[in-house]
Amino acid sequence: MKNFNAVLRLLFTFIVLPLFTFAQPASKKSEIDKKVETLLKKMTLEEKVGQMNQYNGFWEITGPAPKEGNAKLKYEHLKQGLVGSVLNVKGVENVRKIQEIVVNESRLGIPLLFGFDVIHGHKTLFPIPLAESASWDLQAIEKSARVAAIEASAVGINWTFAPMVDISRDARWGRVMEGAGEDPYLGSKIAVARVKGFQGDDLSANNTIAATVKHMAGYGFAEAGKDYNTVDVGTSTLYNVIFPPFKAAVDNDVKTVMNSFNVLNGIPATANKFLQRDILKSKWNFGGFIVSDWGSGFEMIDHGFSENLAHVAEQSANAGSDMDMESYAYVTHLKSLVESGKVSMAVIDDAVRRILKVKFELGLFDDPYRYCNPENEKNLIYHPDHIAATLDMAKKSIVLLKNEKQLLPLSKNQKKIAVIGALADDKNSPLGNWRVGSDDFSAVSVIEGLKKYTNEFTYAKGADLVLGPVSFIDEVKINNSDTSGFKNAIDAARNSEVVIMVLGEHGFQSGEGRSRANLDLPGVQQQLLEEVYKVNKNIVLVLMNGRPLILNWADKHIPAILETWQLGTQSGNAIAEVLFGDYNPSGKLPMTFPRHLGQLPIYYNYFSTGRPGPKPEVFWSHYTDEVNQPLYPFGYGLSYTEFNYSNLKVDASNSSQIKVSVSVKNNGKYVGEEVAQLYIRDKISSTVRPVKELKGFQKFSLNLGQTKELQFVLTDTELGFYDGEGKFIVENGEFEVMVGTNSEDLLKTTFTKK
Ligand code: GLC
Repeated sequence: MKNFNAVLRLLFTFIVLPLFTFAQPASKKSEIDKKVETLLKKMTLEEKVGQMNQYNGFWEITGPAPKEGNAKLKYEHLKQGLVGSVLNVKGVENVRKIQEIVVNESRLGIPLLFGFDVIHGHKTLFPIPLAESASWDLQAIEKSARVAAIEASAVGINWTFAPMVDISRDARWGRVMEGAGEDPYLGSKIAVARVKGFQGDDLSANNTIAATVKHMAGYGFAEAGKDYNTVDVGTSTLYNVIFPPFKAAVDNDVKTVMNSFNVLNGIPATANKFLQRDILKSKWNFGGFIVSDWGSGFEMIDHGFSENLAHVAEQSANAGSDMDMESYAYVTHLKSLVESGKVSMAVIDDAVRRILKVKFELGLFDDPYRYCNPENEKNLIYHPDHIAATLDMAKKSIVLLKNEKQLLPLSKNQKKIAVIGALADDKNSPLGNWRVGSDDFSAVSVIEGLKKYTNEFTYAKGADLVLGPVSFIDEVKINNSDTSGFKNAIDAARNSEVVIMVLGEHGFQSGEGRSRANLDLPGVQQQLLEEVYKVNKNIVLVLMNGRPLILNWADKHIPAILETWQLGTQSGNAIAEVLFGDYNPSGKLPMTFPRHLGQLPIYYNYFSTGRPGPKPEVFWSHYTDEVNQPLYPFGYGLSYTEFNYSNLKVDASNSSQIKVSVSVKNNGKYVGEEVAQLYIRDKISSTVRPVKELKGFQKFSLNLGQTKELQFVLTDTELGFYDGEGKFIVENGEFEVMVGTNSEDLLKTTFTKK
């Protein structure tokens, strides 16, 4: 049997693959493809394997060369041309030093890619991606990625492991902070905006960097919201919910894809041929390369999928994973696997071509040090334009959840304000997680932001949120018992006219490895909120969190609630501008906020089931002890002003361009921005479709009394869906069209597509 396989591989290698590779008409092979082929021909098998190997930055580069252990091995590999990329190297000087070793000492001098997790800014930090997604402002989101690329490239980075586009419906999963929420349409638009921001129009420019769409695929559907856990989803969810943001990024020329730690339907993503070869490289014709996640190859041994590291290398390479991040599998075993025929040279050549192509496109062969300009490092970090951009993004990311009796905005002459909560005085937590390159404690705190408006406030912490050190790797220790600061806080509240309470999660309570089994306010914060409420009900609750929380008590009792997530460097200034009305909040939730843990996973675009309700008896799809509805639905967010929708019309005379129009009027007392959302429902379809799906949105500003007529166009792209085989189909029949200010308050009408 093994010989038969070897013969098959030889046939594939010397007959099938060359046909595909060289069958393209010469005209189509770009200049870069020719350079890649020329270089490939010069490379030894070891050097080819080297390009498929990525190491983490591994020694104090400005210090002496490492003399022993892994660091010495990696250092020798640099000199032998056995490394294609390094990650987490900080600073122009260090990048230059490593690049010089490879360029000057290895035989072919093939420059390295320098990868880094530039997730929501590099030094100037933007709101966490989930917060940015709440802005629904694609231009601002693209700008955020552009600024991140300018700062990252200024310090030597030419490749970011972003955007993360994992759709998730489970707020227990810590990495929801890193994505764009629960919806594939919004998630796809945001994925493209971020890719464009990072890669710009010219990848060879020295302020654009290669992007990575990750984690392919299904990572956000980890069972029970537990990070790294098993993923088992059907094809309808895979093709219609999980894949769209990846495909949108690939269709917009994203240069790399990262696979993921999880198994998908029993096969680890890193060795998943269906994902990497059938979908990405064949069906979607992805021309870039796939990098593994950190050690995700090695983890296949723990998955019970690989016998040993050699088996990891064989399975991953043959399944289409082109670069091995920190498993040491390829650099240790690929050469012998090729020599034994277990991995074909064609597989190696295909991977190396893809990697070299990105290096040529980045211009690294023209100038390996193009990202090593110390002047840029000095002049571009924290540039005033970047600070302005992150403040703008932060304001737009804030979501007003409640504002009873127009308690907000506060008067600028407001006196006797109490500010309570450890997070109000925290300059680190508002930076959020996933900020490996940032400076700790570089955020403007709420207290600092307030001082720009008034000093008429008393601050009382009330209670610590965390105990001990916090960082990307530390388990966060929560204060679950110390209420010794309550008295000061209660006294301050008692003697004030209005209380601003800043409560929520620490920035390192969400992110990788940060799943929570509870979604309440951590520690003693809920107790503090209720104690303060007893003496002063005039409370503005400012939430700082990296995921949806369960806020039933607050929603019932607290008159004003602002969702401010973790807003990055300009956090306190953005919050203060909203509190005092210099910015009218316009954010809309990209993820549903549940009433109860038991409702998870909860999302707006659910299927009807055969037993929708409510019904006068028990036999329908519901809980006996909780309603089905969320506390705050997808797309929800209030404004200081009021928007009214009317006049919804549909013109379906041209079935390839269904025209939808609606009027929106600003009926309130403030100029404001609104996000009008368009949803459809395909009433009868050969694969069941959701009760509603987002298929359009527009963000715009309206002056007092101003009315705007909005136009939307629905084409087959919006009306179609993927069937169980992954085929995109569009069916005629009746559709519902819904337009409104969130996924529940909607004007509705229908049309028939002929
Ligand atoms: C991490 C993450 C991935 C990141 C990579 C490199 O474990 O899963 O998103 O890009 O390792 O830091």
